[in-house]
Amino acid sequence: MTGDAIVPRLVVLVSGNGSNLQAILDACTCGQLAARVVGVFSNRGRAYGLKRAELAGVPGRVCQMKKGRPRREYDRMLAEQVSHFRPDWVVLAGWMRILTSAFLDRFLDRVVNLHPALPGQFPGVNAIERALDAYRKGEIGYTGVMVHLVPDEGVDSGPVLFSERVPIMPNDDLKTLEARVHAVEHRLLVATIKDLCGRDVTSERADLEGE
Ligand code: GRF
Repeated sequence: MTGDAIVPRLVVLVSGNGSNLQAILDACTCGQLAARVVGVFSNRGRAYGLKRAELAGVPGRVCQMKKGRPRREYDRMLAEQVSHFRPDWVVLAGWMRILTSAFLDRFLDRVVNLHPALPGQFPGVNAIERALDAYRKGEIGYTGVMVHLVPDEGVDSGPVLFSERVPIMPNDDLKTLEARVHAVEHRLLVATIKDLCGRDVTSERADLEGE
């Protein structure tokens, strides 16, 4: 007996800086989140998120897409590697690849994505920059952040778990708006995971693994 509490297992997928991964790691460390990051994956070997994992003592893995390789093949391989960590939840925190059903079907209803815009707004890359442009054209008055489930290949769509408005100020530039959006992301992602971890998926997983 180890005396370790059984807490939900998280695998986090990152492509870059990993400040959202850091928010999760910190929340786990300080007890705000009763969960454990058991593995971190990146499609980029130089992603700073891997360094953050290393500093936190969490195994990090690089899973690079080789040129010309079919996407589904990559996703199958990634899913296989992720499944070795037996995650209850797979968190896409700045993961810059669209996952196909070859990955998603392995973790049905357990893949969560973070997007720096409100539901239905600015899907894809550079969402904060595009929101700022739209604000300057008078098209929007605010932007936001959302965390949602990823049931399929839809880009930054899928059932919304939590979302929150982020104000845009007249004197904002990209840097100031990014800082405000990221601060909300860090908080909202942790709050969402906390909520999800209150759901009883561990017993469900045990049932599946027993099949
Ligand atoms: C976040 O804004 C995330 O929503 C977006 O990419 C950024 C990643 O930031 N998809 P980080 O790597 O967590 O610092």
